[in-house]
Amino acid sequence: MLRSRSGFALLLSTALAATAPALAQDTSTAEQTIDVMNTLFGKHPGARANHAKGVVAEGTFTPSAEAATISKASLFQGPAVPVTIRFSDATGVPTIPDGAANANPHGLALKFKLQDGSEMDVVTNSLKYFPVATGEEFRDLLKAVADSGPNAAHPTALERFTAAHPAAATAGGTAKTPSSLARQTYNGVNAFILVDKDGKRQPFRFRIEPVQGEEILPPEEAAKRDPNFLMGEIGPRIAKEPAKFRVLAQLAQAGDPTNDATKPWPDDRKTVDLGTLTVAKAVPDSAEAEKALLFMPNNLTDGIEVSDDPLIDARVQAYAVSFSRRSQ
Ligand code: HEM
Repeated sequence: MLRSRSGFALLLSTALAATAPALAQDTSTAEQTIDVMNTLFGKHPGARANHAKGVVAEGTFTPSAEAATISKASLFQGPAVPVTIRFSDATGVPTIPDGAANANPHGLALKFKLQDGSEMDVVTNSLKYFPVATGEEFRDLLKAVADSGPNAAHPTALERFTAAHPAAATAGGTAKTPSSLARQTYNGVNAFILVDKDGKRQPFRFRIEPVQGEEILPPEEAAKRDPNFLMGEIGPRIAKEPAKFRVLAQLAQAGDPTNDATKPWPDDRKTVDLGTLTVAKAVPDSAEAEKALLFMPNNLTDGIEVSDDPLIDARVQAYAVSFSRRSQ
């Protein structure tokens, strides 16, 4: 008995020794990322390190008939399920004006309440593609921004970074201020995999399009709007009439990269309508509701899986650090 226990202990310590360096490295990239975010945006107790300003609403998701043919996920078998929705502005500044250029990309995070009592998350924003492909590169981009103040000598750290990572110079320009959070298209950016009942695997990216169409403001008009013009508008809008979005899957073709969020797939790739998201009502106390909410990009359900995109795990690690700090 004793011998087998010590054998087990030895095995366990060997296994931990083998995985510890990898875990320590992951943790430190995520911790460093959140540290730079706190430097760039300031420390705001209780707030998210990124996408700090937001508003929580409730609604439903109604699957299309086609969704069930491409994935066995219970989400797509019907009936409609409840969804908790959080719209957000970018940055970790909880008071950022909604029309500021830096409030882009706006975020749309969804928590589906599945019939078996479990939950599934989809976390999207208005970028068409991401500035970098890995968590380490994202940390380095944020560091380069922090090191490139108005008095920095040229080429600045940011200029050097964007010279080596071309998408970092252009991705931000793909996200623009909408007239309403209900009039923006949100993208999954990372690739995921749909698995059907026969085990067929189809890489895809989420795209969530407003049924009323996207409506973008000229930047100079966005800058003049009330600081809360987006967060304050969504509640009264949906109280009058729910806002609807089409939840789409852009399907990869053979050879399309699934492990590089800086590379959008061509626009002519087939898109499948997975169903309709209806945003029906604001929650009574959004500030309280958002504290308890944590949306995780890898919180999926049988029939939808993560791809080999390294950014997904980098996000999971960073969101966990942010959640643990904001919960203290
Ligand atoms: C390595 C890349 C990324 C890092 C390090 C990162 C970091 C973060 C962090 C720290 C938070 C706060 C989490 C919390 O406290 O709950 C956050 C929130 C968020 N991120 Fe990211 N992010 C990354 C990529 C992305 C991408 C690719 C998207 C969308 C396609 C995205 C969309 C969002 C949204 C919508 C939220 C707000 C979620 C909510 O409403 O609670 N992020 N991100």
